[in-house]
Formats: sequence, C-alpha cells, structure tokens
Amino acid sequence: MNIKQALKDATEELKNSCERPRFEAELLLSYYLKKERTYLHAFDDKEVEGFEDFKALVQRRANHEPYEYIVGKASFYDIELNVEQGVLIPRPETEILIDLVAKIIEKKSITSIAEIGVGSGAISVVLARKFPNLKIIATDICDTPIKVANLNIETYNVQDRVKVIKSSILDEVNNHIELVVSNPPYIANDFKLEKNVSEYEPYEALFGGVVGDELLKQIVLDVKAKDIKYLACEMGYDQKEPMIAFFNEIGVAYYQFYKDLAGFDRGFVVKFISN
Ligand SMILES: C[S@@+](CC[C@H](N)C(=O)[O-])C[C@H]1O[C@@H](n2cnc3c(N)ncnc32)[C@H](O)[C@@H]1O
Repeated sequence: MNIKQALKDATEELKNSCERPRFEAELLLSYYLKKERTYLHAFDDKEVEGFEDFKALVQRRANHEPYEYIVGKASFYDIELNVEQGVLIPRPETEILIDLVAKIIEKKSITSIAEIGVGSGAISVVLARKFPNLKIIATDICDTPIKVANLNIETYNVQDRVKVIKSSILDEVNNHIELVVSNPPYIANDFKLEKNVSEYEPYEALFGGVVGDELLKQIVLDVKAKDIKYLACEMGYDQKEPMIAFFNEIGVAYYQFYKDLAGFDRGFVVKFISN
C-alpha cells in the first residue's frame, strides 16, 4: 500500500478517537517511517514497508492510547522527555508553575529545592537546566516515574544536581531546602476522566483522595513542619476556596493563586512563617 492510501485508511480508523484524525495519521506515519511530515506529501506514491506494523500503531491510537505513549516522547517547555505508561504525560499548564517558581528562585537567589512527585522529571529537569547552580532533590512513591525521571535527568546531563529518591512527600528528605515545588495528584477518586487518561495514565499520578485535595493539604503541612520557606503547587480548578480556608486555619505568612491559560484557577505559592 502506498503512503496516500495508508493515510486515507488511518484517518478513517482514527476518526472516532481523535479530534484531528488526518493530522494524527500523518504524525504516526512520519514516526513509523522516521521521516518529516513534508516527505509524506512529496512522496505519497511510495510503498509503506511493513504496513501491518503501521496499522498496529494506528490501532493503539484508535483505542485511545495517548500519542506520547505510542512514540515514547512528550514535548514539554523547551525539551522533549522520554515517557512510557506508568508515568504522567507532562501537561502544558505545568509550564506556568515552572515560570512562577523560576521567578522566586531568581528573586530570592535560591540554590536548593525539592520536588514532590517527580513523574517524568519534567519540572526538575527544566528548572535544573534554567539554573546551573540549583540543587534539586525529587521524590516519588512509584518505581516507573523514578526510572523514567532518572533517564531524562541523564539525557539532559543534570544528574550531578538532581537526585531522585523513593519517598512519600518529603519523608526521606533531610537536606536543607528553601523551596518545594509539586504537581501532585489532586483529582477526586470518583471523578470520571476521559478514556485516554483513565485507561492509560497512572492512578497514583491523578487521584488525590476522596475529596481530591487530601494530598495537597498534607504536602502543605509537611513543608510547614520542615520549616521550609516556600511551596508552589499545581491544583484543581475548584480547589482555591478550600485551600484559602486551609491556609487561614493553619496560619501562613502569605499566599497567592495563579490561573492557567484557559483562565481556571490552577495553583498557588505559599510562604510560611518561620518557626
Ligand atoms: C500529577 S503527577 C506529576 C508528575 C510530574 N511532576 C509532572 O508535573 O508532569 C504526580 C506524581 O506524584 C507521585 N506521587 C503520588 N503520591 C505521592 C506521594 N505521596 N509522595 C510523592 N509522590 C507521589 C505520582 O507517582 C506521580 O508521579
């Protein structure tokens, strides 16, 4: 079968699972052939060798498997990260969290931070690349994120400054830390997510408890208890009010919320009163 027909068939196959079936068919075929998309247009009469293998990739996508898991890569901020099932695919809204944290690091000349829930390493790798003097200790409770984060840390050659450890929240972190950043699981356990997320992305990366904000609140308490000055977290669009009530209840020096590009409340920075 030639490229033109292969794209036509793949587009048809993807039309119930993708918003842009033709575009995704082209992305998958360029990945399969290891060619740019422009090649598909210029040489659409060329045969697709091993057509059955390409069809299998299309079938995975038609079953709602995220494109990033099929190709094993995800674009994030200014880099491309290795990803696989078992690791959250980094989301564009998390780039806002990074910019916010970067401002604090710069303004306060911070040199040592921790990340809770490292996942693919997206946040830690980008921050380490931005700040050549920054030391990061990153935690996760799951083995696949720890493995994949370490791979990305090595890929971007920041392994001498980013250490990943298996730990819940900051339980195993004893170093002096000035700021903590986290994009923790914050979705309520019974919330119905789209099939491409619920059936493929890891449960531990998504669900934060019965209400959803349980882990977020525990992170706030643990960071406060360790006398760390700043915490910056991503959160759910409906969690601003409960978090404000929580900050007022425990007493903090200062807090500020931020929105994502769609205008939804998406996270906060909190400064703690020194013990
Ligand atoms: C939403 S993902 C974020 C991954 C990555 N930081 C990002 O922004 O793409 C949350 C991560 O937190 C980890 N996690 C869940 N509970 C945790 C806990 N109690 N302590 C540390 N990490 C935890 C999950 O395994 C997952 O990798």
